[in-house]
Amino acid sequence: MEKQIVLLPGDGIGREVIQSAKEVLEAVAEEFQHSFSFETHEIGGAAIDLYGSPLPESTVEACKKADAVLLGAVGGPKWDQNPSHLRPERGLLGIRKALDLFANLRPIKGFKNLLHASPLKAEIVNGSDLLIVRELTGGLYFGTPSERRDGGNAVVDTLYYTRKEIERIVDKGFQAAQQRRGRLTSVDKANVLESSKLWREVVGEKKSHYPDVVVDHILVDAAAMKLITNPSQFDVIVTENLFGDILSDEASVLTGSLGMLPSASLREDGVGLYEPVHGSAPDIAGKGIANPIAMILSAALMLRYSFELENEAKLIEEAVQATLDAGYHTGDLQVTDGKLVGTVEMTKLIVDYIKTRVHQSA
Ligand code: IPM
Ligand code: MN
Repeated sequence: MEKQIVLLPGDGIGREVIQSAKEVLEAVAEEFQHSFSFETHEIGGAAIDLYGSPLPESTVEACKKADAVLLGAVGGPKWDQNPSHLRPERGLLGIRKALDLFANLRPIKGFKNLLHASPLKAEIVNGSDLLIVRELTGGLYFGTPSERRDGGNAVVDTLYYTRKEIERIVDKGFQAAQQRRGRLTSVDKANVLESSKLWREVVGEKKSHYPDVVVDHILVDAAAMKLITNPSQFDVIVTENLFGDILSDEASVLTGSLGMLPSASLREDGVGLYEPVHGSAPDIAGKGIANPIAMILSAALMLRYSFELENEAKLIEEAVQATLDAGYHTGDLQVTDGKLVGTVEMTKLIVDYIKTRVHQSA
């Protein structure tokens, strides 16, 4: 299979971990006789420094031509005081919109040897395995341009959704539930917001098309509570952009392994952008100690969702699990025994596992 991949390292540890994902993909390509070509472009703070824009036109053009995009992370204190159009996050929002990546999938699953690092008691977090399906290109993030009124003393942000936008993300939620354990929780604020009423209506209409899925509706405040009191009750959560942003951060710490969580942002035709859930971690950037696993698992999601290379994706996931099982860990994982390694070494261990494994089964 021939595929063209754009790498957007971005800022901070993004620049280190993207290299890890590339090495893993090169190993997969070699072992399975695929041809992946890579092109690197700038986004976020690095792009502001080089081109005066968090999302240069050349980056957008390259991503539009690519089969898939891998992104490291954006942001850092250097650009925190910039005006809003010159903030690194603008690059991220811009590329999501430019590529129409409306479906953001964030799987959260505990790794058994890391659950002790969870802020929750083991018996509560045990068995949690959920997927948040977040709408990514609408809602408050992209309503009619926000504005200041009354000499700056009043503000407007608009929560705007079309029925079509809701339908396509709700379909994604149902489909994901079908492929998992058949449970869908739709999260909204239908006791207050008109947008949530339409959302609930759409979920109600779609239900009959997915008779094998059990659906329930919960309000976002209750969802926030249930995520920490009974996280294992969830299978797939589908929700609008801002609710999904907040709930996915909450959920990402449940399993005690933020450095391990990948995400996928997809368009209808399967083109996608893949990035770790963690940020650019400026405090540890450049030190060679960042955990590359979330980025590597994001590359696995790319193989699964954009290229339909399920076996290759599974092998990467198996390699990560085996490397952890062998006692290797980076500094962010609060493991006291075992072998502490840096970014490069962790990557090499995973790559070596992939190569050995393929040769064993040949
Ligand atoms: C995320 C991030 C972004 C978002 C920010 C950086 C704009 O928090 O990917 O969840 O809010 O979508
Ligand atoms: Mn977020």
